[in-house]
Amino acid sequence: MNIVKSLLLIYSLLAMPTLQCSQSCFCRKYFTLRIRTQIRGQYKNILQQNNGALISNRNQISFAGNQFNRSPLRSEVYYVNGGRGYTSQIIGRYLIIDLPQTYEINTIIFWVYDRDATLRRFNLQVYIQNSQGQRQLIYQNTAATSITKIKFNDTFVKQILFYNNNGSSLNQYLHFLNLQAYFDF
Ligand SMILES: *[C@@H]1O[C@H](CO)[C@@H](O)[C@H](O)[C@H]1NC(C)=O
Ligand SMILES: *[C@@H]1O[C@H](CO)[C@@H](O)[C@H](O)[C@H]1NC(C)=O
Repeated sequence: MNIVKSLLLIYSLLAMPTLQCSQSCFCRKYFTLRIRTQIRGQYKNILQQNNGALISNRNQISFAGNQFNRSPLRSEVYYVNGGRGYTSQIIGRYLIIDLPQTYEINTIIFWVYDRDATLRRFNLQVYIQNSQGQRQLIYQNTAATSITKIKFNDTFVKQILFYNNNGSSLNQYLHFLNLQAYFDF
């Protein structure tokens, strides 16, 4: 985010509620910007459990660890070892995240299990889906490792789906430590 955009953003957030937008074109522009900020999740990571994002097919996913460190939507992502801090899903299964509203985003970050002596390579796909149920493949890789950042065109998204296409270089599982999605300037 560059300086001008940051300033516009701050201005729109602070000044807008007190202004009447009936006349000024200047004002209308900032009103639009404010709405846009909202639909873009305030330009923050929208995949947070305390923001209402949830794994809607949680019964099909295993979570290693206790309730404080096993969700890929948590902020505390560094307490991970062989027995805690990641999800498991078998081949042919999705991990589906439902967002509390439609968001406009263009970036997704996923972090797959990377605590082996040799870096594990995962065969997976990532889809985004809008509120009409139209699904779009935005990423696939047969050898994804550690942290990957996916960039795509600005898109209105209601669900994000992570598919285990063919396990990893070690076994049949797909493991996530952390997932993030946001609108990047
Ligand atoms: C992304 O947007 C650009 C510009 O509008 C367009 O040319 C391109 O085809 C789009 N890419 C995808 C994957 O939709
Ligand atoms: C899936 O992975 C296994 C084990 O690595 C491999 O033998 C098999 O050919 C792969 N299947 C496909 C469809 O790529």
